[in-house]
Amino acid sequence: MVGVDMDKPHSFSYPRNDSPSDFEQIINRAMDRRRFLAGSGAALGLMLSGASLARVLADTDGTAAGSTLLHFQAVPASTADRFIVPTGYEARPLIMWGEPLLPGAPAFDESGTAPAADQALQMGDNNDGMSLFPLGQDHALLVVNNEYSNRQFLFDHGGQQANSADDTLKDHHAHGISLFEIRRQADGYWRPVPDAPLNRRITVQSPMHISGPAAGHPLLRTVADPEGVRCLGTFGNCANGETPWGTYLTCEENTEDYFAASADFEPTPAQRRYGLSTADEYSRQWYPHDERFDLSQHPNEPHRHGWIVEIDPMNPDSVPVKRTALGRFSHENAALTVNHDGRIVIYSGDDARGEHIYRFVSDEAWRPDDAAANRNLLDHGTLYVARFDAEEGALQGPGKWLALRWGENGLTPENGFHSQADVLIHARLAATVAGATTMDRPEWIAVHPRQDMVLCTLTNNRYRGVREEQPLNGPNPRSNNHYGQIVRWRPANGDHAAADFEWDLFVVAGNPTLHDSGLEAGSANLNADNMFNGPDGLAFDADGRLWIQTDGNYSDAELFAGMGNNQMLCADPDTGEIRRFAVGPRGCELTGITFSADRRTLFVGVQHPGEGGTGSDFPLGEGRKPRSTIMMIRKHDGGVIGSA
Ligand code: FEO
Ligand code: CA
Ligand code: CA
Ligand code: CA
Repeated sequence: MVGVDMDKPHSFSYPRNDSPSDFEQIINRAMDRRRFLAGSGAALGLMLSGASLARVLADTDGTAAGSTLLHFQAVPASTADRFIVPTGYEARPLIMWGEPLLPGAPAFDESGTAPAADQALQMGDNNDGMSLFPLGQDHALLVVNNEYSNRQFLFDHGGQQANSADDTLKDHHAHGISLFEIRRQADGYWRPVPDAPLNRRITVQSPMHISGPAAGHPLLRTVADPEGVRCLGTFGNCANGETPWGTYLTCEENTEDYFAASADFEPTPAQRRYGLSTADEYSRQWYPHDERFDLSQHPNEPHRHGWIVEIDPMNPDSVPVKRTALGRFSHENAALTVNHDGRIVIYSGDDARGEHIYRFVSDEAWRPDDAAANRNLLDHGTLYVARFDAEEGALQGPGKWLALRWGENGLTPENGFHSQADVLIHARLAATVAGATTMDRPEWIAVHPRQDMVLCTLTNNRYRGVREEQPLNGPNPRSNNHYGQIVRWRPANGDHAAADFEWDLFVVAGNPTLHDSGLEAGSANLNADNMFNGPDGLAFDADGRLWIQTDGNYSDAELFAGMGNNQMLCADPDTGEIRRFAVGPRGCELTGITFSADRRTLFVGVQHPGEGGTGSDFPLGEGRKPRSTIMMIRKHDGGVIGSA
């Protein structure tokens, strides 16, 4: 949500959980006139041949790939205020913002007058990344980020007047994490279980530990915590990850937005790089009522946020831990894979214009039978940042992981780095010194479950080619990038800890109905029937289908004409084929994805329907207040999502 693009909220939808019966005639025309050269077995050729940009974009008539993974009929773009899924599928809401989770929670009050104490017991706002932890065949724990809130819906004053102290506290409780048990009903759909033992809210007021190499550093110390090892709260919780030892990773993204200054405050150059300013840019108004957020009083508080936080969801009394070894930046998600040698590798993008893609490699291997050994595995390891190389104009090339290890790669006292803690707290500055490639807002990263393949969505970047420090480069080839792209890399020798990789672009989003050729038309696997902009959410299922969620411009006009509301697509990473699977209601983005253990239910987040005065009353309809919602998608025949 960095910046103001389509990521910040504003206002209204209807609902419905429908298959697009009206659209069935339209969807059969769906499959590609234009195919990406990466499709139909050409992917490998592209990787190896050093094909130029011109070649990629010129070859728009590759042979039909015939994906063996995509077994649903594409849905057309839509501007309807509905959640649309393919024929043969159905979607229903699981839970909405404000539903009761904890004992004593009242029902949601649409008036906006309910006190903070109510919100503390209810589902938070703006559900984002989420993970499902099975508790049995028909029983699970869902852990969901609540990235931020929609002030215009949160308060009776619509965010148009100054916060009261209780307003600010209510906003704190609308943020954070919601954990709740769910049970499958006889009809195959799931329901939240209010008051269940593992239900929990973690908010801006929850105690946290700070661990790893940066814990205790002077920049992390405050009046309230002179040791720099504990803090209150997590917020800006964008997407997520999960570990093989059963913990949840929540990623702190736009934490700088919550700070402002009541009086004099001059950000350091490092704080400027992290986007801190004295203005309360988005009118969060936290600092007048919680002095932690007042930079004039507590200039170190922002250093205590912007981390990946590990949570043990099975113990409601556990204290979340901020893992500083993974670096401080606007973490989008935490894409974890177990390397061939058992070490843990976590990829994470820094979602800001011109920032970078990172990788953490643990020192020790994960030990499946030793919970104690794994408990602090993420405190010891090496953080790396990516450099993408390319011949001029090439959309593929080699790449290198640059270690952000104190004393190496220029990370020395002469350059302002006096310890590993300095490197981690100021990972962005370290990345620049080391020579990282500036990227077009890295959002989610996904690791293929079986192949040596990793992908990252690069959502857009209006500064690319415009600001001097963000010139065009291989994986970021477009000036004023409106549409976004997805970069893919393969680690050398299948080793996720290796220094080298090979990269290419899996898809370049664009609008082929406005442009016949060139980058603005998009890559050849894009066509009038699957075009999109603003790729953001990204995840593989166990069969290797790649799911892509968008958080783009939903105006359906001008550059974005014909793209409709934000959507979810499914891609075959082997053929390059991309097919639209779902469309969200007005003003929302689709973000957050997880499956039931048997993969017969797909959970997808609808975040901020009705943003920006888009006139949504989703999901309840009838002019009701729009609410962020987690949807459940099932096949009519009860089969595995995406299967034939
Ligand atoms: Fe929270 Fe970058 O999206
Ligand atoms: Ca958003
Ligand atoms: Ca996102
Ligand atoms: Ca986004």
